[in-house]
Amino acid sequence: MGLAKHLTGTVKIHFNTMAQTIIITGGAGFIGSHVVRLFVTRYPEYRIINLDALTYAGNLENLRDIDQLPNYHFEKVNILDTAALEMVFSKWNPDGVIHLAAESHVDRSINSPLDFVYTNVIGTVNLLNTAKHHWKNNLEGKRFYHVSTDEVYGALGDTGFFTEETRYDPHSPYSASKAASDHFVRAYHDTYQLPVVISNCSNNYGPNHFPEKLIPLFINNVITGKPLPVYGDGLYTRDWLFVKDHATAIDKVFHEGKTGATYNIGGFNEWKNIDLVKLLCRLMDEKLARDTGSSEKLITYVKDRPGHDRRYAIDATKINRELGWKPSVTFEEGLSLTIDWYLQNTEWLTHVTSGEYQQYYDRQYHK
Ligand code: NAD
Ligand code: TYD
Repeated sequence: MGLAKHLTGTVKIHFNTMAQTIIITGGAGFIGSHVVRLFVTRYPEYRIINLDALTYAGNLENLRDIDQLPNYHFEKVNILDTAALEMVFSKWNPDGVIHLAAESHVDRSINSPLDFVYTNVIGTVNLLNTAKHHWKNNLEGKRFYHVSTDEVYGALGDTGFFTEETRYDPHSPYSASKAASDHFVRAYHDTYQLPVVISNCSNNYGPNHFPEKLIPLFINNVITGKPLPVYGDGLYTRDWLFVKDHATAIDKVFHEGKTGATYNIGGFNEWKNIDLVKLLCRLMDEKLARDTGSSEKLITYVKDRPGHDRRYAIDATKINRELGWKPSVTFEEGLSLTIDWYLQNTEWLTHVTSGEYQQYYDRQYHK
């Protein structure tokens, strides 16, 4: 919060307004679907190719409102399948790649680290190789954008912020795999001059978030009257950003970011988990017309996550100063919009919480 006063001024670096073909990987997931929607609607002259394997986290229902638009196309491809990647690049001849496809949940990474090595590290290197091979004769106007996380920087104490210069210090298999993929992206820039750009963002929240992560899990559990499992002492801190604000930051970085650069993206919005959960409970009591305090009664302290990072906080001064980006909604507004979305999309929640989800939930919370 304290950094917001420094957010002034804009330095324009680069803007490519020519019609483009862009492959967005992971476009059926949480953040990817918001990025796909923004690009398809804001740039009708672009061709947007959503490349996604449709794992448990990918859901084409997320894009139902825009999937008939003429500039939207879908390719069901796993980034581990190099032949399929080659075919998609040859078919569409992309100018840009915005790479979001990943295994993204820390708790799953603790149970199955290799899945994270395969998709996040090897999958990213496959994509880099395909882009490098396909663009070998002309790198002009090309861009490979890797969407990454602030978790690569490790954990903060009570004070301080992650800047673009903070040393990498990942602790979970998830953050280690994202750190490795960031290093490969930079290595392809330095070694092969691949025109890359990277952003590292704080925790996102918003519509279409898979209900294994804190906010959507707790919204779903309040709706269904299940316990709210707070890990450890509940005093862990995260810096929350509304997903649509992340999508506008990605738009800025893709079009105006400097080649080879890194941009930190964050909400200037730190919350201790327990304070966030109490706010969520209060809003849900109001929206569900339940007695004040009834959702809070569901809070249950459970065993801590191993290797749990104490605090994340992003210094997003650079993206504001160089690209003029800043978040557009307050946390209370964004959280209220998010809860409304879940209450209005119960069919979506029912679909994504059937099947594999039940096994995951039992494994994670009933062990
Ligand atoms: P998500 O788990 O909701 O979606 C991931 C998408 O990738 C899904 O559509 C899935 O089907 C697809 N995918 C997974 N493995 C694949 C594979 N092998 N081949 C092709 N597609 C595959 O993730 P998210 O929360 O939307 O995160 C998107 C990206 O943003 C990730 O790279 C993540 O590391 C990064 N990020 C997320 C957050 C956050 O708070 N969620 C914050 C910062 C950065
Ligand atoms: P999460 O949404 O998994 O994001 P990340 O681990 O990538 O920050 O978790 C956010 C915070 O909430 C984190 O400190 C762990 C905590 N948490 C719980 O206390 N209970 C839960 O059931 C989950 C999923 C997370």
